[in-house]
Amino acid sequence: MVATTGAAAGHENWSSRTAFILAAIGSAVGLGNLVRFPAEAGANGGGAFVIFYIGCIILIGLPVLLSEILIGRHGQAAAPDSVRTVARDSGASEGWSVLATIGMIAAFLILCYYSVIGGWVLHYIGLFGAELFNGGPFNSAFAGKSAEDVQGIMPALFADGSLQLMLHILFIGITIFFVARGVNKGIEFVATWLMPIFFTIFLGITAYGLVTGDFARTFSYLFTFEPEKLTGPVMLAAVGQAFFSLSLGSAMMITYGAYADRNINLGKTSAVIASADTSVALLAGFAIFPIVFAAGLDANSGMGLMFQTLPTAFMTMPAGSLIGFAFFVMVFFAALTSAVALLEAPTSWAIDRFGMGRGRTTLISGGLVLLIGGIASLSTTTFAGWEPLGFIPLFEGQDFFNTLDVLTGKVMLPVAALITAIFVGWIADRKLLDAENGISGWVHVTWRFLVAWLCPIALAAILIVGIFPGII
Ligand code: PHE
Repeated sequence: MVATTGAAAGHENWSSRTAFILAAIGSAVGLGNLVRFPAEAGANGGGAFVIFYIGCIILIGLPVLLSEILIGRHGQAAAPDSVRTVARDSGASEGWSVLATIGMIAAFLILCYYSVIGGWVLHYIGLFGAELFNGGPFNSAFAGKSAEDVQGIMPALFADGSLQLMLHILFIGITIFFVARGVNKGIEFVATWLMPIFFTIFLGITAYGLVTGDFARTFSYLFTFEPEKLTGPVMLAAVGQAFFSLSLGSAMMITYGAYADRNINLGKTSAVIASADTSVALLAGFAIFPIVFAAGLDANSGMGLMFQTLPTAFMTMPAGSLIGFAFFVMVFFAALTSAVALLEAPTSWAIDRFGMGRGRTTLISGGLVLLIGGIASLSTTTFAGWEPLGFIPLFEGQDFFNTLDVLTGKVMLPVAALITAIFVGWIADRKLLDAENGISGWVHVTWRFLVAWLCPIALAAILIVGIFPGII
């Protein structure tokens, strides 16, 4: 199908509503749910973070999600051009497109370190694949090794710069391949095939964790609300995680919304995407923490939860090598569908802007990610100790890799979302957006209230207390 409007004349559309939903869910569900959510929940003390996070998804994430998709569908072009079209049609300044520009840069920077983590996932697929090959599918993984040996895999990987760099190059190479193939052949293909496989494996492994692990303790850990733990930084972490997980403030949903047909109900679609994404994050918590508690390990081990704790658990499970292999393949699929989305946002903009072919443009945008991400992949070796923004309190002690994460997750995404809420709540022509959104009655009134009032005020407040915790 070919759209005929605007700068993106000739661009492709999703071939069906299901394809759009799967691609959007594929973009949302990724390392953010499986690695970052459990890591942030553990680092920020569990319940208070989780409950505030869920509140952020419903009251801030969902309204902003609908806003972004709306902008994209109305604009039918790469993200900044879509915002410009909405602004122009509303008689407002085209300068509002800055929200998409910040988002696109954020998407680009996220991919730079995202693909390094994607590389680690490939490493573990290789390790479990070898176990599977050597020991057969019904053996536990890493027979004859101690738990310390298996937990040592991650530090060993961190100490090996060239291996990390190679894995990063491999992961970004695969991403470039699919983005270069375009919306229907590449992105839709990845989403419609990989997402269902992902969900099947994911549910199996979560069920296993629930049956064998410490469920009661996980439940109280994740859902006990201790108000004194809800500090400014914890709130900022939660709201940032909500945006990261829903792919908001990154121009992403504007980009995918532009490929959406007029007959897709955007209100319902947004609700489906947000519920699917949040369910996966919570279920990931229920897959990981029971195992952590049952083994007496520390909930606050960040990325170690996925790359150290779980592999030890697979050592004692029957068929552990098969389950471990399936698990990391699933993580890889989830990561790939998100990485494809992250690369698509800046790439589609560059295609419209510079008029070069998709293949060549993807090679250039992906090549830049390869270079900057290459530095991130060497954060623990060649560039160890380099804290590029260490003079700012929020970035103290953060190496290049973590600086990219904090800068995007805690600053750029919330700021872009804040501008989006102001733009949609106050600036854009209401009639113009209402004609597109597919919601009415009290849902519509609530959405308008949330976008215009709650989102901007809450976001501004959280940004201030999160970045300058000493202020209150
Ligand atoms: N939402 C993705 C995840 O949870 C990451 C992402 C962020 C993807 C922003 C696209 C845009 O892993």
